Formats: sequence, C-alpha cells, structure tokens
Amino acid sequence: MSSHGAPVPMLSRKCGPLTGEAHVPGDKSISHRALILGAMAVGETRVTGLLEGQDVLDTAKAMRAFGAQVEKRGDTWYVQGVGVGGFAEPEAVIDCGNAGTGVRLIMGAMATSPITATFTGDASLRKRPMGRVTDPLALFGARAFGRSGGRLPMTIVGAADPMPVRYTVPVPSAQVKSAVLLAGLNAPGQTVVIEKEATRDHTERMLAGFGAEISTEVTDEGRVITLTGRPELVPQVIDVPRDPSSAAFPVCAALIVPGSDVLVPNIGLNPTRAGLFETLREMGADLTYENLREEGGEPAADLRARFSPNLRGVEVPPERAASMIDEYPVLSVVAAFAKGATVMRGVKELRVKESDRIAAMADGLRAAGVAVEDGPDWWIVEGLGHGAVPGGAVAVSHLDHRIAMSFLVMGMASEAPMQVDDGGPIATSFPIFEGLMARLGAEIERI
Ligand code: S3P
Repeated sequence: MSSHGAPVPMLSRKCGPLTGEAHVPGDKSISHRALILGAMAVGETRVTGLLEGQDVLDTAKAMRAFGAQVEKRGDTWYVQGVGVGGFAEPEAVIDCGNAGTGVRLIMGAMATSPITATFTGDASLRKRPMGRVTDPLALFGARAFGRSGGRLPMTIVGAADPMPVRYTVPVPSAQVKSAVLLAGLNAPGQTVVIEKEATRDHTERMLAGFGAEISTEVTDEGRVITLTGRPELVPQVIDVPRDPSSAAFPVCAALIVPGSDVLVPNIGLNPTRAGLFETLREMGADLTYENLREEGGEPAADLRARFSPNLRGVEVPPERAASMIDEYPVLSVVAAFAKGATVMRGVKELRVKESDRIAAMADGLRAAGVAVEDGPDWWIVEGLGHGAVPGGAVAVSHLDHRIAMSFLVMGMASEAPMQVDDGGPIATSFPIFEGLMARLGAEIERI
C-alpha cells in the first residue's frame, strides 16, 4: 500500500540510452530542517527549492499545528516562526506519514516546551524505533508514552522546566543528533551532543546560519557538538540544494544502461552525504564532477554519469556507511551489474529504515537471479556483470520509496523487466521520478 492510497504497481524494462539533464528535487534532509528551524525563528523565513514530497509536506502541516504559519506563494515557501519555546499545543494528532526524519526532529523541537503532542505515521513509520529519540529527550525532562518497543502512536509531554544535557549518540544517526540539538534550543545553558561517527551535519550548519551559538570539535571521543540554549533564531532566506540521494537514481541508471550519458546539475557534495559517488568511482564508474564549486558554504557540482561497461565489485569501507546510508539499495543494484562481489559491512542501521532495506533488497535481487548473502549488519551482492542480470521478478517495496526506485532502475538494464508491487511511496521524496526518468529515455509504466 502507498502511504496515502491504493498500491501503484509499476514496471520498468530494458531501454535505449539514457541521455539529457536530470533536474532532481530539493534535498529532503535540508527541506525538513528549513521548515522546522523557520518555525522556531522570530519572523519570516523564505525557502526556495523546497522538496515538495509528501514527507516534507507532512512536516509543513505539523509546523502549522504547532502555531507557525507556513504557506507557498509563487515558487517560495514563507514560514512565520513563533520563536524558540513559542510552539502552541496542537489540537489534534500529528501525522508524519512515512517520515522518520520529520517525526524525530519535531519530537525534539517540541520536547522542551510545556506542551503535549501525540504523533503517528503510516504503517512503515509505526514500526520504526522511537526510543532512540525519547531516551535522550527524557534527560531534558520530557516524558514519552508510546506503544510497546517505543513505537508510534506516541505522546510526548514536553518538559516545563528543561535541563541541558550531555549526550553521546549510541547509534550513527543524524536524526537522533538533530532531535537532541533541537531540544537543546529551549534548554538553558549548553547542550552537548557527541557522535562517534560523523553523520550528516545539516542541522549544525543550519543552526549556525540561523544565528545559534554552536561549535563542533573533533576529539578522541568523536565529534563534540556544543549548543548554547535559548538563542533568538534570526529568520533566513534559504535556497535548498538538490538532493544527492535523489541524484543517485539517474546516476546509477546511466551507469548500467548501455550508451547513456546523463548530466545531473547542481548537486550538493557535502562530505557527510557523498559516499556513494566515491564508491561508484572505485567500482570503475565513469562519473565525473563538472563545474565543481562552493554554494552556500557547501561543495557542489554537476554530476555527469556515462554507461560503464566494466564495473567491478568492491568492499565498501564501513566508516563510509553514514555518508551513503540511504544509497545502499541502489548501490546493490549497480553491484549486480558489476563483476565480482560487493561487500557492505557496518550497515545495521539499514534494518530500521522505512523498511528493513537489507531484507527488502536481498529478496528482490534473489528473485531477479542475483545471489545475495546477508547477516545482521552486513550483506554481499555477487555481481553478474553487464548483460547478465536476469531480472523478471516482482519486488516488494514495503512502503519504502528507495526500494521501489532501486528496482525500477534495475529493470532498465536487466534482461527481463522488473516490477514493483507499489511505487506510491516514491512520492515521499522524489515525486517527479517517473517523468524525469522517462524524459531521459527510461521505459517505466504503471501496470
Ligand atoms: C536523515 C538521517 C538518516 C537518513 C534519513 C535522513 C536526516 O537517518 O537515513 O533519510 O535527515 O537526518 P538516521 O538518522 O536514522 O541515520
């Protein structure tokens, strides 16, 4: 089932070369944060390039429920913030749909205000662990009442008299780190978050942009992030960069479809997000960065991906996992078209995403004739090489946009077409995927 309607079965088949430009939508992580921090600033934040996927639209709706005004006029989103500590108590349950980022960041943002809010989500989100966020929020004084296993629906009673915390994030998770930082905004004094492995740092960068006092120090303990509470956040004008995680799909498709040459302009290459592209280059991909530049303090480039007939399997360094965590599904598809094994270790977090992504990909790849071995925090895809991937299977997307898009990419180059049972979730992060891929030359249909 898609999150908001009947399932949308889809199919993709072998196609001619993919060519042209792929203008992918705005970054999902940055879009959520722009709305949430905009809502916590005093005055009007303006956002262009916002991802208008369902996940982000659900966050916009949630910010309205907490009292901020959020509206779109022309191409710009306007957010009238209520200030740190200014959230109103929502009148109804907050439904974050499919969005783990949305719900976890918003829980953090409200947990240090004297209000109560109840959160829910779709069948995928209701299975995902929230204890990783509510544990540190309890240290601030917030209380959480949810289903067994720390699942949604869940009510958070915000702390009336919050305390600042010092917290070491036990799993590599930017969502947990960000929830703690957002909670720290309305706590007096300094909140310190320590992460052993670097995860995406958009919250830190954006908080600094909104005028918060925040610093990151790299020590033997890891990255120590210190935030001074109760700042007045100054509204910003934000142009959201395009999403490297969405760019991954046309890039990977171009690498495996013979004759392809695709340009994906203006992609942010923040090192905490760009691990996939490095890995693809190690596999022998013809992937180049054109017009490499700095934009808004972040490296950005136009990516050019060309068909790469001689891809080879690699061992992905586990320490790179966080910088490409959402890209393993589509990497495993490219790995099937490479010669030899691709080994992915240190990826336990993949089991608690929108779906268990190791299981979902392994099942579909095996059904399509590709051997996969997997364990709790690792998996190995035995590449068959170009022109040798059978395909011809129905993959189950488990309400997971990236699983659906990965198998549709696979079908563009496998011998027989690939079907997915439900492409509906693609709208959460990449609503223009079908049209964009079709314009490049892909043959995708709804069946
Ligand atoms: C995100 C963090 C990652 C990622 C998700 C977006 C974010 O999740 O998988 O798509 O915007 O902070 P985790 O924090 O669970 O690793």
